[in-house]
Amino acid sequence: MRILGIESSCDETAAAVVEDGARVLSSVIASQFSTHGKYGGVVPELASREHMRAIVPVVNEALERAQMKLEDLNAIAVTHGPGLVGSLLVGITYAKALCYARNIPLIGINHIEGHIHSVILEAGDAIDFPALALVVSGGHTHMYHATEDCTYRLLAKTRDDAAGEAFDKVAKLLGFGYPGGPVVDMLAAHGNPHAIKFTFAKMKGKTHDFSFSGLKTAVLRWAEAQNMQAEIDRRRALVEPKLDDWLAATPQATLDLLASFQYTIIEELFRRVRAFAEETDARSLIVSGGVACNSGLRKAAQSGQLPLPVFFPTPGLSTDNAAMIAAAAFPKLRRGEHSGFDLRAYANLALA
Ligand code: KG4
Ligand code: ZN
Repeated sequence: MRILGIESSCDETAAAVVEDGARVLSSVIASQFSTHGKYGGVVPELASREHMRAIVPVVNEALERAQMKLEDLNAIAVTHGPGLVGSLLVGITYAKALCYARNIPLIGINHIEGHIHSVILEAGDAIDFPALALVVSGGHTHMYHATEDCTYRLLAKTRDDAAGEAFDKVAKLLGFGYPGGPVVDMLAAHGNPHAIKFTFAKMKGKTHDFSFSGLKTAVLRWAEAQNMQAEIDRRRALVEPKLDDWLAATPQATLDLLASFQYTIIEELFRRVRAFAEETDARSLIVSGGVACNSGLRKAAQSGQLPLPVFFPTPGLSTDNAAMIAAAAFPKLRRGEHSGFDLRAYANLALA
């Protein structure tokens, strides 16, 4: 069964054709980094406009690369939340039009379920269910209990910033570009993760929810106390910097700050994994979302510190893409679960 996936929830317009939920025949992603970079974050109106420009060529390219025509498809899957409503609507409207024209099923997919399926798509039977599914991206930091038949129970979520948002905000306040995760990742590898002892978030009661805004404020206070403004201004003045330029513009003390910040985020995530590994019947851990690209996180997860086998998507499938949306639709199509043409966009669509 061949499914065309369409994803437009944030700042990537993506389309992909996936066969039987397991073979990626094509995956095309048009990123809007250059549009939003100068604003230090995603501007919703600009995002919708860019999606409208990109959606038709991106879908056509995905079909071409898969050497397919619309009539070769069994269904079209589209993200219908959570995300920016104006952006989601571009993908939903186009998916509806194509399904209507070809008389094939439309399947609405939750973006978070898509991220979880980016791992299942590649690892397949190797994952021992039930699993803990940690989705860490710019918009989400959620931990689920996931079963093989795609039922989910929310175990913990962030109370404030998402992990990726913390990377982006810290990068911005220290004068690095947007998105901040990849730059911080690269620079943190050159620093001492134990140089600064940031305190871990403490939640009242029995919850294992996440919180990252306190850590971001601690980094801000540290930068103020160290009089880093001149250094930050020098970085902000760099024109189209490459990773080497960032490295040259960052003293060792700041590399240590970034490494300590990243270490604290990873430890916050791992503390919950250890707790839920004990408290639930989970047999493996799935990590997905943009922050799953983080090399420090991958290295730490694969160094035997965690009590469960860990599965990551390849980096290309960690950040937003449409292959994960098509993959998440496959079990639904098999079960005959379709959406109606009244499918709507939901900014805060919950998975569980
Ligand atoms: O999943 P994604 O593409 O979009 C959302 O659904 O939010 O995730 C984007 C987020 C951004 O916050 C970005 O800074 C972060 O993932 N990210 C990283 C890395 N690559 C992307 N964070 C840490 N380390 C990375 N290597
Ligand atoms: Zn995402």
